[in-house]
Amino acid sequence: MLEVKNVSKAFPVKDGKLHAVRDVSFRVAQGEIYGIIGLSGAGKSTLLRCINALERPDTGEILFDGDNLLTMKEEALLQKRKEIGMIFQGFHLLMQKNALQNVLLPSRFHHADKNMAMEKALEMLELVGLSERKDAYPANLSGGQKQRLAIARALVMSPRLLLSDEATSALDPQTTEQILRLLKKIVQTYGLSIVMITHQMEVAKEICDTVAVMENGTIIEQGPVHDMFLRPKKKRTREMILGLSEEESEPSPTNGRTVYRLGFEQYTATSPVISRAVRQFDVDINILAGNIHQLKEEQIGMLYVEIWGDTAQVDKTLAYLTENGISWEVSA
Ligand SMILES: Nc1ncnc2c1ncn2[C@@H]1O[C@H](COP(=O)(O)OP(=O)(O)OP(=O)(O)O)[C@@H](O)[C@H]1O
Ligand SMILES: [Mg+2]
Repeated sequence: MLEVKNVSKAFPVKDGKLHAVRDVSFRVAQGEIYGIIGLSGAGKSTLLRCINALERPDTGEILFDGDNLLTMKEEALLQKRKEIGMIFQGFHLLMQKNALQNVLLPSRFHHADKNMAMEKALEMLELVGLSERKDAYPANLSGGQKQRLAIARALVMSPRLLLSDEATSALDPQTTEQILRLLKKIVQTYGLSIVMITHQMEVAKEICDTVAVMENGTIIEQGPVHDMFLRPKKKRTREMILGLSEEESEPSPTNGRTVYRLGFEQYTATSPVISRAVRQFDVDINILAGNIHQLKEEQIGMLYVEIWGDTAQVDKTLAYLTENGISWEVSA
């Protein structure tokens, strides 16, 4: 339903140009939650604003159901924008309007029929669990309630695509959880698609079907969430999965020992496999780093280990791991 093709955007700065987004391409299917994760300054927000043409890319195409938003006439673009809702980290609510009035804003803007707009607004407030607070002003709502209100407003025109820019970044973990559950429910109920920008791996793994990792304006890796957690190809992706900051690196070989990266889909089966391998093949295994992630439907683990001992025995150990469903790669 959405196809972003070779989109680039640069901003003029003092000494030249800042390439915020460079040649980014991806597709989002109907009902898909597509996550884009990246560090601050990676270009995520710029890319998201390009999707609904709030920001005009320098080059590229934004195809929405096959129509290029960037070459459309203003009137047609306005119509298309109805089908694209947006939510933000800072909620962007109007403080002098109450909850219901905030939800009604898009209908006013698009001159929708008043009765139908009211009906839809009340339905959306119900959906996000804020019916009782419809007369409350944003100042009197909690962060989670403000975001739910913003979601109700984003959905009031029945969009087919929702763009989310760090919608949960300002919220505590429990509230984040609530909002993610709400977004999942919305996708299930209305079959819309979400492009979800986040710097939180937690968010990506919990809700996304597909994840892209963005760095310095480009998507360095993208794929189904399962593959990204099990066999991340890029160092930066692995470091994000390990929860490392920008300054930290994944374990690298020391003492001339080889570091192996193990991936498993069923963590529970792993520890006996490793201890058995140690006993059976008389090798030493030293665990350097790792973690287990609960994805939408499964657990996936990644472990960095050194394995040393007799070369033939190390080879047998690796074969044993493979036989037991643990994938491994030499970590450079
Ligand atoms: N209007 C602008 N003019 C000049 N530079 C800009 C403009 N908007 C963004 N940038 C620059 O483009 C780069 C990407 O910014 P962007 O806001 O897209 O990053 P981001 O990934 O969303 O970061 P964050 O996680 O901090 O929100 C940054 O270096 C930023 O300073
Ligand atoms: Mg941003």
